[in-house]
Amino acid sequence: MTEDSKYTRQTVTSVHTWVPGKLFSVRVTRDDAYDFQPGQFARVGLPAADDPDGPPTLWRAYSMVSAPGQPWLEFYSIVVPGGLFSPRMARLVPGDALYVEKAPYGFLTLERFAPGGDLWLLASGTGLSAYLSILRDPAAWSAYRRIVLVHGVRTTEELAYREEIESLARRPDLASHFAADPRKLVYLPIATREALPGMPQERLTTLIADGRLEQLAGQALDPEAAKIMLCGNPAMLADARKLLGERGFKPGRRGIPGNLAVENYW
Ligand SMILES: Cc1cc2nc3c(=O)[nH]c(=O)nc-3n(C[C@H](O)[C@H](O)[C@H](O)COP(=O)(O)OP(=O)(O)OC[C@H]3O[C@@H](n4cnc5c(N)ncnc54)[C@H](O)[C@@H]3O)c2cc1C
Ligand SMILES: NC(=O)c1ccc[n+]([C@@H]2O[C@H](COP(=O)([O-])OP(=O)(O)OC[C@H]3O[C@@H](n4cnc5c(N)ncnc54)[C@H](OP(=O)(O)O)[C@@H]3O)[C@@H](O)[C@H]2O)c1
Repeated sequence: MTEDSKYTRQTVTSVHTWVPGKLFSVRVTRDDAYDFQPGQFARVGLPAADDPDGPPTLWRAYSMVSAPGQPWLEFYSIVVPGGLFSPRMARLVPGDALYVEKAPYGFLTLERFAPGGDLWLLASGTGLSAYLSILRDPAAWSAYRRIVLVHGVRTTEELAYREEIESLARRPDLASHFAADPRKLVYLPIATREALPGMPQERLTTLIADGRLEQLAGQALDPEAAKIMLCGNPAMLADARKLLGERGFKPGRRGIPGNLAVENYW
């Protein structure tokens, strides 16, 4: 690796398995010079499988789960059966190398929106990653009246980070927000292939279309007040974009902030 490499070599410090063989998180060291906005993604690299000590040759995009204020980088990943990258990433152990491109990428950031109103964060599957960085960072909590986090998964065991999300109200730096409004964060875990007590067993797009998402959130999807992020499965994004577009939500253009920001994972 030379001084002018496009990437740095980072070291795995911990791996957490959420669902064996399907979902895991990796923490790695963070280069002092690596800076990013919550919601951005890194390009991470591994060497060729037959040259584990060689240079990185295989690269994939991963949203940062960690906040800019945290001294490590954290990624949350699915294991795609037969995938070239994710099954190998799942086998990393502390001390292993993970390479990170020096520049962060992506526009799923709060800069896309004017401040004020409510922030709706809608994810399917690992699309949750980008929102964890946003929730861990203090900025969104001051910028928006309320935050509604909707996480759509197949089964309830896939509701990764649920405990952390449910304990945000107890985070000392957020105490004043929750004291002023106990519903500062509305978290809606949604499972489609298993019953989750008290929640409908439906796709989040169905819940947008029939109005139940607004009922569950306790507020309207009003394009004048709501700023919506969508992240995850491209089919879900396409369906949700259509439904939300019909209701007046659209991405910003040429520097004019919009009320919809979207990131496809594949
Ligand atoms: C901007 C961006 C951010 C991303 N952030 C994340 C992230 O935070 N966590 C993460 O797990 N993945 C993320 N991905 C996807 C990631 O880059 C890889 O595609 C994924 O790790 C699988 O790599 P692979 O080589 O094993 O399979 P690939 O050959 O890359 O993918 C094979 C197939 O697996 C499916 N697939 C890929 N990614 C996912 C996924 N995340 N969930 C469900 N099915 C999937 C798709 O059908 C895809 O065609 C992101 C992708 C983009 C473009
Ligand atoms: N081999 C295995 O046994 C196995 C098992 C699971 C996953 N996988 C792998 O994992 C990937 C899927 O990962 P995942 O479960 O995290 O993601 P996912 O398929 O995107 O599912 C996550 C959530 O998004 C929903 N969804 C899917 N398409 C949608 C749409 N068009 N509109 C609205 N909601 C939609 C799903 O609902 P639905 O439940 O209604 O689809 C589910 O609730 C597959 O591509 C496969 O590679 C493999």
